[in-house]
Amino acid sequence: MSELPRDPRHDPVLREEVIAALAITPGERHADATFGAGGYTRAMLAAGAAVVACDRDPDAIAEGQALVAEAGGKLTLVHGRFGEIDRLLGERGIEAVDGIVFDIGVSSMQLDRDERGFSFQKDGPLDMRMAQEGESAADWLNRADEAEIADVLYHYGDERQSRRVARAIVAARPLSRTGELASVIRKALRHPPGAPKDPATKSFQAIRIHINAELDELKAGLEAAERLLRPGGRLAVVSFHSTEDRIVKSFLRERSGGDVRASRHRPALAPPARAATFHPPARKVRPGKAEEARNPRARSATLRSAVRTAAPAWSGGTTTKEAISC
Ligand SMILES: C[S@@+](CC[C@H](N)C(=O)[O-])C[C@H]1O[C@@H](n2cnc3c(N)ncnc32)[C@H](O)[C@@H]1O
Repeated sequence: MSELPRDPRHDPVLREEVIAALAITPGERHADATFGAGGYTRAMLAAGAAVVACDRDPDAIAEGQALVAEAGGKLTLVHGRFGEIDRLLGERGIEAVDGIVFDIGVSSMQLDRDERGFSFQKDGPLDMRMAQEGESAADWLNRADEAEIADVLYHYGDERQSRRVARAIVAARPLSRTGELASVIRKALRHPPGAPKDPATKSFQAIRIHINAELDELKAGLEAAERLLRPGGRLAVVSFHSTEDRIVKSFLRERSGGDVRASRHRPALAPPARAATFHPPARKVRPGKAEEARNPRARSATLRSAVRTAAPAWSGGTTTKEAISC
């Protein structure tokens, strides 16, 4: 497939850098763990890879069918969670891949649609479920106790005033619309109209991460990638939040035999008993000024990448085989 013109829906963050990290040789098979609007998948196809892409959002899979047709047999789309991507691919006879990319978080398609309930800038049902099943944001906010809500806002949104916001949410229940929630948060934080950063940003991010168990999924996804990559296979992860980046960084450090102390002032841990499953990771990559100017979302993006060794995967996993890739 030849390169297509830039289109904001298909112009994902750090596209060239991700393709460079995957180091695709034409004819290889690569996985896109977060298909979204297919921006990375298009670039991977254009580089000559056969691609198997996954997304937990049924809308992304349905809307991706046009690209499946365009790709002439080179693209397979799979509905499901990347935390079990090795099992999903195994069921389709794919036991190993040459590269895998994760683009963590919410897609612009999810954010732009009022009815998905992800955005504090649009009024819609308070939903936020990527997979469109399970407990919605409204269900959780209307049942959780104040301390639980405050913890989520603090840990996943870095919201310093988490207790104040949680108290206001509990007092305003029941909540059913994103607009209602955004105005409760703005009022609690005494948001002056026209202030540059909307104070609802952090809480909406935190609630979304909680509803979709995004951090647990990220950890499971990295372990699934470890099982799925063949020796020499490349892993690339783009994240948008410091907590996510910390998970990726410490996974790669640990699996490449590095120092996993939370602080260099802590005593050194005993060297890992198991052989490193990744070579020492490449330096992290951040978007350049031009990309940040073109795409404000890029400002918080970080790409980390590493190459798989031939050592057996550390994690047991969801597949029937042990250490598929080795
Ligand atoms: C940032 S978007 C990806 C955008 C994509 N790289 C592109 O170029 O269009 C993230 C996508 O990952 C999906 N996603 C998030 N967590 C997931 C998970 N645990 N399993 C599968 N898909 C997930 C979301 O539904 C969303 O469509």
